Amino acid sequence: MQPDVQHPQEPPSGIHPLLAGRFSPYRFDPSATVDDHALGLLLEAARWAPSAGNSQPWGFFVGRPGEPDHDRLLPHLAPSSARWATDAGLLVVTLTRRHVGEDHLLYSEFADYDLGQAVAHLTVQAQAMGLAAHQFRAFDLEGLTTELKPNPGWAIVSMIAVGRAADGPPEDRNRHPVAHLRSAPWSAAE
Ligand SMILES: Cc1cc2nc3c(=O)[nH]c(=O)nc-3n(C[C@H](O)[C@H](O)[C@H](O)COP(=O)(O)O)c2cc1C
Repeated sequence: MQPDVQHPQEPPSGIHPLLAGRFSPYRFDPSATVDDHALGLLLEAARWAPSAGNSQPWGFFVGRPGEPDHDRLLPHLAPSSARWATDAGLLVVTLTRRHVGEDHLLYSEFADYDLGQAVAHLTVQAQAMGLAAHQFRAFDLEGLTTELKPNPGWAIVSMIAVGRAADGPPEDRNRHPVAHLRSAPWSAAE
């Protein structure tokens, strides 16, 4: 058993190298492209994620530098994410289907949960292909929704910058200890 470290700066060696090596880069190599084959594999990885009742409540909008769809996304990045996401070889907008049509009938109570799992699959697939993913919420949600006009019942949740990392993991990474994962829901308020 691994000792319970209070602020582990690095993942322990016992977990899978794809998980241990994953991090969200703050610099991407602007010369590294994501070709059609790589893009297809990333979406396949998301596609094969499990979901409640196999509802598959996820959707994606993608754009790569030089493509008109990339130009549609860039104006909606917040200044904080534009600093690094602009250089990534691929931008992905993630959407989930929470409702059916305009009448707010629930499509899946697990819609966001399932989307997150599909994105986790995509992220690990990226890692296996020598790419890195940085998920983010730092964009203009309202403006992007107006721009992309998803069908009723669909909601934009997050964006992902995918590309070749141009730096290593930040030095100040930390995580709650494993014991916290098991005790937090029952501990006194922090
Ligand atoms: C849903 C979601 C939203 C996030 N939003 C942002 C963001 O707006 N800006 C940012 O720099 N990072 C964002 N992140 C990245 C997290 O800050 C990062 O995953 C976390 O600090 C752990 O670092 P690591 O991924 O390198 O392990 C987001 C991650 C997720 C999953």
